[in-house]
Amino acid sequence: MLLNGKNILVGVSGSIASYKACELVRYLQKKGANIKVIMTPSAKEFVGELTFRALTGEEVLSDWKDGKTGLEHISYAKWADSFVIAPASANTIAKIRYGLTDNFLTSTALAYDKNLVIAPAMNTKMYQNKATEENIIVLKERGHLFVEPAEGLLACKEEGIGKLADIEDIETVILYSIMPKPLKGKKVLITAGATREFFDPIRYISNASSGQMGYSLARMAYILGADEVLLISAPTNLKKPYGVNLINVISALEMYNKVMENINNFDIIIMNAAVADFRPAIKSNQKLKKDKESTTLNLEPNPDILKETGKLKKENQILIGFAAESENILQNSIDKLKRKNLDFIVANDLSNFSRDFYEGILISKDGKKIEIKENSKEEAAYRIFNLFLQQI
Ligand SMILES: Cc1cc2nc3c(=O)[nH]c(=O)nc-3n(C[C@H](O)[C@H](O)[C@H](O)COP(=O)(O)O)c2cc1C
Repeated sequence: MLLNGKNILVGVSGSIASYKACELVRYLQKKGANIKVIMTPSAKEFVGELTFRALTGEEVLSDWKDGKTGLEHISYAKWADSFVIAPASANTIAKIRYGLTDNFLTSTALAYDKNLVIAPAMNTKMYQNKATEENIIVLKERGHLFVEPAEGLLACKEEGIGKLADIEDIETVILYSIMPKPLKGKKVLITAGATREFFDPIRYISNASSGQMGYSLARMAYILGADEVLLISAPTNLKKPYGVNLINVISALEMYNKVMENINNFDIIIMNAAVADFRPAIKSNQKLKKDKESTTLNLEPNPDILKETGKLKKENQILIGFAAESENILQNSIDKLKRKNLDFIVANDLSNFSRDFYEGILISKDGKKIEIKENSKEEAAYRIFNLFLQQI
């Protein structure tokens, strides 16, 4: 796991969302990170420090004078690989902008010499107030990383933007703050999901791909610093990865059109979607009736998105395909790589479908083969990027 062994300092400020920091701490611990928590004095009005002490087995410092030596704001800042403030109140954001150091959290933030990860949570009007907006702009200009709050029903019973971002989105930006940026300067397009080919208004042909690998690749492309990540996705049950632009499509034909509209703007194109080779020749406008003992569905071919992209590929573009094969995995994948003019292909058998463990082989156009065997699709995505980036 990418957070395994990383030191993460979690700063909690006073917000109705302060309790969500308990979940964040548990989540990051499960990912193998070492956690220390610091709280503003007002955060303690919302959630007890005992909770964080029990969760982390560490003292929870709060006043600027706290700690045995009084110099803990310096040692904590040095200890942290990443310092995330979640939730970040409007007040704490303003103090950090002006370099105030009136409590342990703000003192440590000033002593921290890397980019902070700041996850605001507040009422919409507080968030959209010019004062907060300006504070955020200034902090972003200084390189600090914000996890944009979500929209929804807020604790104040108003609808709007200001909810603390989802834990997974906060984790994404923590990873962004820690990981190297080999994709800086590159734009990455990824396809994912299982296309649906409807033969009446509610019934369709599809396949068992969960889309998880494609979504993990898109998330990883953002974490590794890509200038832009575009995910063109057929239906999945997955949430849009943070920092990624998403275009939803349903059928192979729609996916083909969206890929063709966009390919010229991207440097790296990764085709992970499980695209139906065929679609029903006729789509009924009415739900088909069960009025016969048996029936036949006529199919016609869909465009081959990978092959068409391979034909249009320019000198400076990298095209990566995936091959899920049930037999002769290696040979079939090498044939596909050649036939479709790919730079790399990731070959795997069908066992990766809908499970987290990932096993496959990265094959380059010059015939180099490297095994990939990872406990999660997140780690597999990281390894795939590292492996092919080393070879281009
Ligand atoms: C019930 C209640 C809920 C609050 N929720 C928020 C909030 O979600 N976001 C925020 O910025 N401030 C919120 N505040 C205001 C802050 O708690 C207040 O500005 C405090 O001084 C923040 O201190 P700190 O930044 O040092 O933690 C809330 C106040 C109360 C009484």
